Formats: sequence, C-alpha cells, structure tokens
Amino acid sequence: MKAHLVTYGCQMNEYDTHVVESQLVALGVELVKAVEEADFVLVNTCAVRGKPVDKVRAVLGNLRKTKRERGLLVGMMGCLAQLEEGQEIAKKYDVDILLGPGALLDIGAALESNKRFWSMAFKDDIHDFVPPAPQNKLSAHLTIQRGCDHHCTYCIVPETRGPQVSRHPDLILRELDSLVEAGALEVTLLGQNVNSYGKDQTGYPDFGDLLRMVGKSGIPRIKFTTSHPMDFSDNIIEAIAETPNVCKFIHLPVQSGSNKVLKQMGREYTREWYLERIEKMRSLIPRLFISTDIIVGFPNETEDDFLETVSLYDAVQYDSAFMFIYSARPGTPSYKHFADMPKEIKTERLNRLIERQKHWSQLKNSRLIGQEVECLIRGAAYEPSFMEGHTEGNHPVLLPVAQAPVPGIYRALVEHATPHMLFGKVTEVVKQAEFMPMQLHSPVFSSLDL
Ligand code: SAH
Ligand code: SF4
Ligand code: F3S
Repeated sequence: MKAHLVTYGCQMNEYDTHVVESQLVALGVELVKAVEEADFVLVNTCAVRGKPVDKVRAVLGNLRKTKRERGLLVGMMGCLAQLEEGQEIAKKYDVDILLGPGALLDIGAALESNKRFWSMAFKDDIHDFVPPAPQNKLSAHLTIQRGCDHHCTYCIVPETRGPQVSRHPDLILRELDSLVEAGALEVTLLGQNVNSYGKDQTGYPDFGDLLRMVGKSGIPRIKFTTSHPMDFSDNIIEAIAETPNVCKFIHLPVQSGSNKVLKQMGREYTREWYLERIEKMRSLIPRLFISTDIIVGFPNETEDDFLETVSLYDAVQYDSAFMFIYSARPGTPSYKHFADMPKEIKTERLNRLIERQKHWSQLKNSRLIGQEVECLIRGAAYEPSFMEGHTEGNHPVLLPVAQAPVPGIYRALVEHATPHMLFGKVTEVVKQAEFMPMQLHSPVFSSLDL
C-alpha cells in the first residue's frame, strides 16, 4: 500500500502526522509525496477557525472525485475528526477512516478492518508512544502534553483534544535522546499550555524543572510553545534564564489588551497581570524575544477595547505576532452566547493591527543591526546565493551561501533588516549538520495562512 498524508493546523498536528507516518512505515506501508501516487490519502485536520475547516471540505471533495474515478482509501484524522461538525463532513465526503486526536494508534486496526472504521476515543496508548526520530530533520517537534484544561470561550481545542494529560518525563527524555542521536539541532517542546506541564499528574516535575532536565540532554537549542500567561511561574522564567540551550524566546499569547474582553474570553488574567509577567521575564532575561497571538473582533469588542489592544502592543513591543480575526466556532461558549460582529469591522481592525505590528517588527529588527544572532540554517533560500533559517528568536534569516555552505548553527552579525527578515554575515560556525535536511518547515505556527 502507498499512503500520502496531508497536514493542516499547528505544530501538534505536524507531530501527530509523524506519529501516524511512523506507524504506517512499521506496518510496511510506503509513504509517497503526492495524491496521484497514493492508494490511501489521510488528511490531518484543524478546527480552530472556520478557514481550515473550509480547506478540509475542499480537499475531501477532490478526494471523493478521485475515489469515484479510480478507487482510493480516504482517511481523516486530527481535531476536526473529533467534532460532530467533522463527522458530518466525513459522512458527506464518504471518508473510510476517521481517527480523533486520541485514537491515532488505531491506524493499524483501521487498515486491517475491511469496512468503514471510525474511532474517536481518547486512549492512553498515545501518551506512552515514543515515535522513532524523524530522519534528516534539523528542527524537531516533541509533544510533552496533550489536551487543555482551560476553557477560553472562543476555543474549540478542549473539545477536540480533551483534558490535559502530561507525558512521563522519562519518555520525553528518551524521545529527546533519539532526536539528538538522529542529528537534530533544535527541539520544540509542544503542548496547548506547556506551562502547566505536570500539574495533572502526581510526582511529575513542573515545566521549569522539565526545561532544566531537557537542557542537560545536550541538544543545542530548545524552544517551546504554547504558553498561557496565567501559568507562567517564576520558576519557569528562572529556568529559561539559567539554562543556556533554552532559546531566549517566549511565545506568549495575550489575545486582547482589554480587561473586559479578556474576561469575556475566559482568559483568567488581566492586562496588568500580563504586563507584570512580561516585566519579570525581561528583568531576568536581558535579551528576550517575545511574540504573541491576538484575536481581533471578539464579540462586543468596542473601538476602545480594540485601542487597548493596540496600546498593549506599544507597551510590550512584540518582535512578532500572529493576528487572527475572531471565528465563531460551533460548540464553543462564545458561539452560543454572543453575536458575531460584521466582518468589515473585524477586517478593518485586523489591518490596522497588522500595520502596527509591522512598525514594531521593523523597529525591533532594525535594533538588531550590528548585533549577533544565532541562526539555525536549514537549506537553500529561494533567493539565489543565500541560505535560509531562523534565529533563536524565530526571526527568518538569510546568510550568504559562501559563508554558510551547509545547514547547521551559525552565529551571524545582522547587517540589514526588514519587518519579516534579517540578513547577516557569519562570524562563527557553531555546528554544521551531518546531513542535508530533506525538507524545510515553518518556524512557528503554520496556522496563520490557514
Ligand atoms: N493553546 C494556545 C492556543 C492554541 S490555538 C493558547 O492558549 O495560546 C492558537 C491560536 O488560535 C490562539 O492563541 C488564538 O489566538 C487563535 N484562536 C483560537 N480560537 C480562535 C477562534 N475561534 N477565532 C480566532 N482565533 C482563534
Ligand atoms: Fe484554547 Fe485557551 Fe486551551 Fe489555548 S488555553 S487551547 S486558547 S482553551
Ligand atoms: Fe488546530 Fe487542533 Fe492545532 S484545532 S490549531 S490542529 S490543536
């Protein structure tokens, strides 16, 4: 059998695709790069906003056509598969295999059964499963926890991924060792709320202590995402400050700068609490890069509320930000209780915020000119004679191929900056890769362009 997987959504979905691919390979299935070559196509789905759901509909529509033309096994996995909305879609497009995010290891049973196989249970086996390290990847993902115990009123994730379950630290460290052995130079620890790691189990370290343990593994760079401001303890900030290989980069979604909106979102913190956390981080970590997520146009957001988000931007001066228009998701409290506002107002506010962020990204990036950054170079850039990668602060960066001929970690002096890119000159080769990476992948969430 030849299988092709298509992935939408966040880094957790990319990791889950790898989990399922590794299972398929163990079952003797060949992985192919295109639908045309495959006799099984599995779509890993996202349900966080309306757009990714529309994309899945379009893809499944095309697959149904192919299925009618030449026969094809069609599967759907991931967040949308867990929802009634997704199951309706699966029925409509004649999906054969449906696996929720907690049932991924049922893939073998699904292929064995000769009839329609749908599994939406949250099973324990997934937490203990250690997938083999991906080959030829410099930057790897490692899921340390699944699910979420928060209840942000706009968010469907607690429905799709269930309550939080942390993985055992021994398994995390074992998986990390195999990544190091396979030549990975950077790991991103993944969870919906990594800061509350361990709180759902007895005897587990907290996230700060886990970072210290992971720091000892010898992997050159450690990142993590995502962080909830409420759970960002002093111990975590201290662990980041003290552990040399933890990148001095924090993605700290704020969602809104207005206390009224934060309350209606159920975010559990205030603007003042958030700003105090940022201050504490900056006082303990001198050169810290910070990014955020924002939802624009949450129900009842007034122009004044929106201006408070803009003023929070100016107070924090983010290095980068992911900005989303509020999407009313069936199954969430805000969908049920609040009326959505006109799209034009949301779009207009988003555009204003994007302009503001561009201003800050340009300014913050320009301030790096003349400073050194550490770059993980992954391969050739589209621009001829450049190699591309990202810095410890997740800035996309280009270095001349003459100075960085092979992928790896380089220190570079920033010579030029745009809001979206740094250009540098190599000052030190820190560690070159022992292989050519097979594929590039985006440094943070890929959900932005969904
Ligand atoms: N666990 C992470 C977020 C996961 S979803 C956290 O709490 O930060 C990634 C981002 O998608 C969120 O930070 C939020 O900005 C955005 N998002 C989630 N639900 C959304 C919705 N209904 N409409 C628009 N954006 C949404
Ligand atoms: Fe969603 Fe909130 Fe959980 Fe993040 S913390 S996954 S936004 S419910
Ligand atoms: Fe989407 Fe699920 Fe990630 S809804 S953003 S794929 S956790």
